[in-house]
Amino acid sequence: MTSTTTPPHPPAKHKSSNPVLRNDAAPEGPPVSRHITALGYAPMDDIHDEFDEFLAQASACQDSDLVEMLRALQTHLQSHFSQENRWMTETAFPARECHIAEHDAVLASVTQVMVKVEDGNLDIGRSLVQALVYWFPPHAVHLDSALAQWMCKRRTGGIPIVLHPRRSGSVTSRTAPP
Ligand SMILES: [Fe+2]
Ligand SMILES: [Fe+2]
Repeated sequence: MTSTTTPPHPPAKHKSSNPVLRNDAAPEGPPVSRHITALGYAPMDDIHDEFDEFLAQASACQDSDLVEMLRALQTHLQSHFSQENRWMTETAFPARECHIAEHDAVLASVTQVMVKVEDGNLDIGRSLVQALVYWFPPHAVHLDSALAQWMCKRRTGGIPIVLHPRRSGSVTSRTAPP
């Protein structure tokens, strides 16, 4: 997958092949909240909680803190993706190529944007944060979830069952497909 130099603009539709910049799958409403991305493999869920925190802080921070927040977010993503890539390669996860390629494309995009942010373009930094907010839920649902099931099955022989609170506050269960 190739990266692009086109800056991310989450509200506008465009045709980038970069998974961060490509927003044609972005939901109409606000991004999916964090509990939906709990996948049942605790080490991964912990990493995703940390990612959610970085995104929340980077979304809400003052301009004076934005560059530092984005540097921290970039460092997190490098560590986050390295860990998932390691799980995939060490266990010969069958679908690892496309997943690793998407991680690489996201990091390439973040690196490109950070060059502009370090030059003082804070708007593109804000756009990057929004793009990541929309990119993450479908990545978690479509790619990370398969890896989480794979890792759980290797450890326990079964796939995870994740309990998600309903919007009303009650609890329901979701059983992963066999
Ligand atoms: Fe992940
Ligand atoms: Fe991933």
